[in-house]
Amino acid sequence: MMKFVRSKIAVLALVASAAPSFAGDMGTVKFRNCTWCHGESAQGYGAAPRLAAQRSKYIENQLLSFRNHTRNNPFSKQYMWGAAASLSPGTIRYLANYFSTLPPQAADDGDKELAATGRALYEHGNPDLNTVSCAVCHGPNAEGIREIPRLGGLSYYYLKRKLKQWGEGYHATAEPPMPRIASGLSATQIEALASYLSVVK
Ligand code: HEC
Ligand code: HEC
Repeated sequence: MMKFVRSKIAVLALVASAAPSFAGDMGTVKFRNCTWCHGESAQGYGAAPRLAAQRSKYIENQLLSFRNHTRNNPFSKQYMWGAAASLSPGTIRYLANYFSTLPPQAADDGDKELAATGRALYEHGNPDLNTVSCAVCHGPNAEGIREIPRLGGLSYYYLKRKLKQWGEGYHATAEPPMPRIASGLSATQIEALASYLSVVK
């Protein structure tokens, strides 16, 4: 743990000392601030989700939502309200475009035994339980489109937490229909969906 903390401090010091040489390129400095938490190639790290290959319009909407404090779940408050507070609309668009062009890797950290159930739910929904097909909006390969996010390859822990928190009433102002859909999913359905999605490339 200490080693981890020290290496993070070393990275921060590096960023600070490198800053003057990037004086003409604010973007480079900003990416480094973000990748400090989201991982060096933005593949996600700990609680911070992958940003690589996420839809540009979706990233933009989330950054505005952190800035406006409408995305109000605990980690968003703790980590992202501050990180997004001073970003101008132009910088937000710039960062969103940048991260959307990076190649993604799948987290592949879910429960393998639940993946088949998750896939069936994702592709066909469950009419008996009134569960919609996610593929209709998020795409057959969970690639997303415009303001609808890519889900394929995001980490199991992030997906599970996000789907659960909508049901707890957080980020109730997110674009429809997710707060309604997610609050109708059972804990087991959430685990199955998150397990499947974490392996999708
Ligand atoms: C101190 C750590 C930290 C820093 C610095 C940070 N983030 Fe985050 N970010 C997080 C965490 C943790 C979350 C997950 C919030 C949640 O659970 O809802 C997150 C979530 C996000 C999301 C939402 C992704 C999604 O799939 O919904 C976006 C977009 C984002 N961050 C972009 C950025 C950008 C751009 C920067 C740099 C300006 C940045 N972050 C800096 C920790 C950080
Ligand atoms: C009618 C369209 C639609 C359907 C159907 C739909 N979604 Fe979504 N989903 C969205 C939109 C739009 C967003 C972005 C919400 C926002 O702006 O915060 C989203 C966001 C998400 C996110 C957040 C991703 C992130 O990076 O934080 C998850 C997870 C998600 N959806 C999972 C699902 C699952 C699982 C299903 C099926 C049970 C599903 N969605 C069905 C439209 C849809």
